[in-house]
Formats: sequence, C-alpha cells, structure tokens
Amino acid sequence: MKGFSMRRFSVLPLALMLILAAWICPVIARGAAEKANEGNSKESANESVGGDAEGTGKMTVPDNFVLIKGGSFLMGSPESEAWRGADEKQHRVTVNDFYLARYELTQTEYQEITGQNPSSFSGQNLPVENVSWLAAITYCNARSEKEGLEPVYAIDGQTVTWNRAANGYRLPTEAEWEYACRAGTATPFYVVNSISVEDANYYGHYPYGIEDNYFSQEKLEIKPGQYRETTLPVGSFKPNKFGLFDAHGNVSEWVWDYYGEYDLEANIDPVGPTSGSLRAYRGGGWNDFAKNLRSAYRGSAPPNQGLFNVGIRLARNVAPAGGVVGAPPAIGRGQMDNKAGKVLVAFFSWSGNTRGLASAIQRQTGAELFEIKTIKAYSGDYNLVLEEARQEQKSSALPKLVDSSLNLDLYDTILLGYPNWWASIPRPIASFLKSGDFSGKKIIPFCSHGGGRLGQSVSDIAKLAPKAILGESLSVYYSGDSSLTKAIEGWLAKNGLKKK
Ligand SMILES: Cc1cc2nc3c(=O)[nH]c(=O)nc-3n(C[C@H](O)[C@H](O)[C@H](O)COP(=O)(O)O)c2cc1C
Repeated sequence: MKGFSMRRFSVLPLALMLILAAWICPVIARGAAEKANEGNSKESANESVGGDAEGTGKMTVPDNFVLIKGGSFLMGSPESEAWRGADEKQHRVTVNDFYLARYELTQTEYQEITGQNPSSFSGQNLPVENVSWLAAITYCNARSEKEGLEPVYAIDGQTVTWNRAANGYRLPTEAEWEYACRAGTATPFYVVNSISVEDANYYGHYPYGIEDNYFSQEKLEIKPGQYRETTLPVGSFKPNKFGLFDAHGNVSEWVWDYYGEYDLEANIDPVGPTSGSLRAYRGGGWNDFAKNLRSAYRGSAPPNQGLFNVGIRLARNVAPAGGVVGAPPAIGRGQMDNKAGKVLVAFFSWSGNTRGLASAIQRQTGAELFEIKTIKAYSGDYNLVLEEARQEQKSSALPKLVDSSLNLDLYDTILLGYPNWWASIPRPIASFLKSGDFSGKKIIPFCSHGGGRLGQSVSDIAKLAPKAILGESLSVYYSGDSSLTKAIEGWLAKNGLKKK
C-alpha cells in the first residue's frame, strides 16, 4: 500500500497544459541550434592564438570551444532574487580570457578517452553524467596527454593540485562558469527572468516561481511544461549570447572550486576556498526545478561521488596563469574509507512513506530507529502542508524538534530518511543536522519522492553538514514497489553496510 501515492505531487489540472506544451514546443533540433550559433564560429575554430605554455605562440583549440573574452561582472545574486541561497552573496569579480566548450561533454567523448561510460542514460550524444569530480579531473588529464598537451592536474588520491600554467584541459572555475553562463546578463537566467522547457531541459512541471504561485498560476511568467525525465542530446536548445549550449539544465557541470562561502575580497580570477570537503557544480539538470537552474545557484557534492544529473564542461587556458592551486580535502582519505561503525536510522515522515522505508532498512540492518519529530505538528491537509513547507523553505526555518534522549556521539553512520519537499529536504531535517556535531560521521541519505527523486536534497544536506562524509543516497518512488527489498540491499552494499 502506498500511503501517500493516491495524492500525487503533480498538479492534475495541469495535465492538459502539459500535453499542449509537449505538442507545440518540440525541442529545437541540434542542427538548427548550431545554425543559430554560426555568428560565433570565428571565435572558436582552429584558430591560432598566442599565449600557450610552451611559448610557441600557437595553441590549437578544438573547434567546439568558444573564446570567452574576459571582463568584470557581479557574481552571485541580488537579495531581491526569488529562491536565492544565502551562499550567493553578490560581489564583483573579474575573469581573464579563457576557452570554454560550447557543449557539455558527451558520452562518446568520455568513452573515447576512458573506455568507460558511467552514465545512467545511454546515448552517444547525450552528456556524460554520473561521473564524479575526481573522474572529471582524471578525464581532463587523460585527454590532455592523448592530445600532447600538458596535463593540468596533479592527482594523488583525493588530493588534487592545479598547475595554472599548464595548457591542457581543465574544469572552469566557479567564477568563469558563472561569467560565461550569464553572458552579460544580471537576471536569474541568461534567458532573463524565467526559463521554459523550450529553452532548457529541466523538471518542467516546476518553472521559476511555481513555489509561490502553486495554487494560482496566472502570475507565472512561464507556465508548467513537459518534464522529460531524461538528459537530451547536447545542443538541443538555443545557445546563450556567448554561444554556449545547455548552461542551464540538461546536466549540472562540475567546476574546480571547493564549495564554501565566497571570499568577497578575491576579485580577480578567484579559484575558490583553499580546502573543503565538497566540490561545487553549476547550472542545474534534467531533474531540477527551475529555481536550481539559476545562473547564481550553487550545488555541492563530495568529489568522489557521481550524480545522475551532474556532468562536465571543459575549459582551457588562453594564456598561462601563475601558481599552483589546491590542498588536500578537509576530510582525509582514511576518513573517506571509514567503517560503518554503529549505525542509526533517523527519519522524518509526514504521510508515512519514509517511515515505511526506515522500518524496511531497520529490518535489514538491525540498526536503531529514530523518528525526527517537530514540536508543532504540520497540517494533515496536503494543500496546507505544501504551503507550510514552502514558507519554511523560503525562510530557511529551523523548526523546533521534540526533545529526545538521542546521543549522536554513539553513532558513526546515520542513515537519514526524509520525503522530498519542494525539491529539497523538509526543514526538520535541517534542524536535526544543526542539533549536533556530524563532523567525521557518515550520513547516508534516503528519500521518498513523488517523481523528483532526490532533487537538490543531498546538496542541501552537504551544505548543512560540510564536515560529515556523505554516502551514496537512495531515492524511492513514494513507498516503493516489489523491488524495494532488493534496492535497499544493493544500496546498503554500495555503502559498505552489511545485512544483519
Ligand atoms: C510539502 C510537500 C512537498 C513535496 N514536494 C515534492 C517534490 O518537490 N518532489 C517530489 O517528487 N515529491 C514531492 N512531494 C511528495 C512527497 O515527497 C512524497 O509523497 C513522499 O512519498 C512523502 O513521504 P512521507 O510519506 O514520508 O511524508 C511533496 C510532498 C509534500 C507534502
């Protein structure tokens, strides 16, 4: 029995609109998009440009790279931007010229170099995804070597340093990425104020601002559209003004920087914090609400984890820059491989589905079970709880939890369960994560959802508990189906947890 499944999270009256949207808004063919971009082709091409590391005065760049002319811009979002995060503090940044790939890296390109394809969707022209930050860095070096370029990164386990003078392939910095995505705009998206499913591949049922207009949608600039539930061939939509395709949507893209607070004083070609446990990714993916596609939105994940909506966009230097950047991650290798130790299953559930998952997990692990409860109960009415949850999320509320005798110090691993609420965690999970010290503990998320899988919940957990070690997460559609026991078994095994 699915406790909640009779009340799907989708909005039924929208069905007609969605069908219409699907009918009148076919994805623009890649060919057409390339044509639209012809004006920029002079800037890319196999042109020779000065400033290569060897000093030959020539650097051949693949013809699907764009020369991004440097400049100064406001990185982050203004306080007036709806659904901005506190981590998007606006500050002026200048970036120098660099090259950036027009397209997200395809599965063909990834496979040609590595012989592997980790992607969860399969198709030669689809972007590679499910590739960790470390795998992305490794790919960059391998491709540089194959093409006779100087590899940019020195990789020693989890420790990666970046030689900024090297001329090989690399990831863009967070600042380069945002500068290139904005392409001169200061609005939430490069398509200005809102983004439709004709502009980008995302969870189209939830356009920008739907959260504030869920029950009366006439104010929405963009109405709900198709949710394609898959990646699309790269370049399926019109490019931005710099000639870049899919900077919003399809897959998010790893950037070099550790995830952390912006250094508001680092204004010229910033490279992010000097240490951390998470790496940033940008742009939003096929599975994200529009709010998480915004030019300023920042995702974060552990460097050793692949995600089905995060891929790669390559960058190259125009001129060598000075210095070597990088430091060991704040969490050492030993900790990353830590043993499960004593395990707790902690969960929050509104309508019972997550509670059911937690019990099933408890039965397989024999771990202790702990329910996260708020002092003030949520409404039992679906429409009202949607509104309560929206308001809490918007204000980053930390609802008070019922006092418990739980002693977190006793546990090494916390299997943390919750329903997906508005593409993130219910705020009681934030209260729980703020209630104790999770440093060095392993948090393994599991989530019950109505179609949005994990949303950005794992990134949000990572931000709330940056010193915890994040395990591989599990998402289950409502209360799951007959394959649930096997799915839990596989997930536990992936996380190195034994059945009792
Ligand atoms: C306030 C609220 C917000 C929700 N937001 C989402 C969402 O963004 N994406 C999604 O897939 N499902 C969403 N759902 C559906 C729930 O994730 C889903 O019904 C889940 O199974 C509920 O788990 P529970 O029974 O443990 O509360 C939402 C449900 C509620 C009540």
